[in-house]
Amino acid sequence: MSAPLDKQELLSRLEPFDQHQLLDWWDDLTDEGKVRLAGQIAALDLPLIDSLYRGKLDQPDWAELARRAEPPPAVRLAQRKQASRGELGATPDEARQRGIESLRAGKLGVVLTAGGQGTRLGFGLPKSLYAIGPISSASLLQIHIEKIRALARRYDVAVPLYLMTSPATHDDTVGFLAENQHFGLDPADLVVFCQGTMPAVDVETGKLLLADRDRLFLSPDGHGGLVAALKNSGAFEHMRQRGIEHLFYLQVDNPLVPIGDAELIGYHLSAQSELTSLAIAKQQPHERLGNFMMIDGRLHVVEYSDLPDDVAELRNKSGDLKFWAGSIAVHIFDRLLFERSASQQGSLPFHIARKKVPYLDTKGNKVKPQKPNALKFEKFVFDLLPEAKRPIVVEYAERDCFAPLKNAPGAAKDTEQYVQQLMLAQHRRWLEAAGAHLTPNAKVEISPLFALDAAELPERIEPGQEFNEPVYLR
Ligand code: UTP
Repeated sequence: MSAPLDKQELLSRLEPFDQHQLLDWWDDLTDEGKVRLAGQIAALDLPLIDSLYRGKLDQPDWAELARRAEPPPAVRLAQRKQASRGELGATPDEARQRGIESLRAGKLGVVLTAGGQGTRLGFGLPKSLYAIGPISSASLLQIHIEKIRALARRYDVAVPLYLMTSPATHDDTVGFLAENQHFGLDPADLVVFCQGTMPAVDVETGKLLLADRDRLFLSPDGHGGLVAALKNSGAFEHMRQRGIEHLFYLQVDNPLVPIGDAELIGYHLSAQSELTSLAIAKQQPHERLGNFMMIDGRLHVVEYSDLPDDVAELRNKSGDLKFWAGSIAVHIFDRLLFERSASQQGSLPFHIARKKVPYLDTKGNKVKPQKPNALKFEKFVFDLLPEAKRPIVVEYAERDCFAPLKNAPGAAKDTEQYVQQLMLAQHRRWLEAAGAHLTPNAKVEISPLFALDAAELPERIEPGQEFNEPVYLR
């Protein structure tokens, strides 16, 4: 259905919400411009935007909720190291075996979100393309895809990748994949789909902002846009046809994610969980991580900024933080959970953030604001967690799973340098555990196709093998 090109008709849609300024330049637009703007206006959910701006939608009282929260059912790292049967009833070996069976049966797919604009990094291209490999200069996307290929090879199955882009990243990402022959992934195992967008409104007036005379300012609708995008793109159909039941979810900026880790999948299956999250232990109460908390029997991620001090600082008898589990945005979702959520209209709430948004002012000048001038609306994937039945979290050591590339050089953490240091340190640990000798300055990067994890490395190197210069093992 094409959008109406009749100015009066468009005005009759906009006026009840006091948004007629979007048509201030209508009469000067080319036909192409009119088609674009009319299409964007037709796609707006004006009542929703109005409610979001007026704060009519319920915002949870996190302080109150957090005060009645409990820690989530969990497998802790110590218990994994001691090979003991914890509250979930499976030893690490038993879990790994179950995970391996499921992997061999080809029930796992991978969902990778790569639609963000990477504002803090300031790279200019989608973050997926960032050459993060410390020796190889491999991009984030290459590293993730090589892990998926290594996993598929190990279990002799296809592991499809569902890659979410946004209008901000789609063309560059698809072009990059094509130039690089999809980094060896069979195109039949790759589904690239684009998430939706949301407009921004002026903080003071609630007026929708234009990026130009013939277009709204639109940005990706948050990683929580995943649920609708999976549905609208036909990805569920692809998953069903392939017999995919579990989706390993990760975000593109973290090259340390143990994609498809058999033990994690095994705990997920043993607990008959619809949602298993990888967690790291917080080192201090106010760490800048989302907090896993059970509230009224449902798993939530409560943002650090929403967690009251008295709750954040609670400790149990042994002196450990009561709410120890920090989220790094790595989850296993059952396909059915995604499908159930997608069938409920507007199931995930919008979060509202003040941001600097360049816009066209009432005189038609483009303005680059120096301070936050607009409200943006985003959905977050972790809002799906409360919908999950029997959720669990499994603790991993931070150094083995978490090195997100977020910031431009100079920041204290999460920069290129930080991520590369963690990658090299992990590969050094794996090599040393396999009996190799590395001089202090030796930098060794391991391609996932050489060894996907520490366990695979002894098959690939000789005990006592020396490394004394930068090498990329591939
Ligand atoms: P962030 O929220 O950290 O955003 O996304 P970002 O784009 O990486 O960086 P900033 O905040 O603009 O500096 C975490 C993950 O979620 C994905 C990102 O691509 C990243 O993998 N994401 C985020 C989406 O896929 N879509 C979105 O709308 C937002």
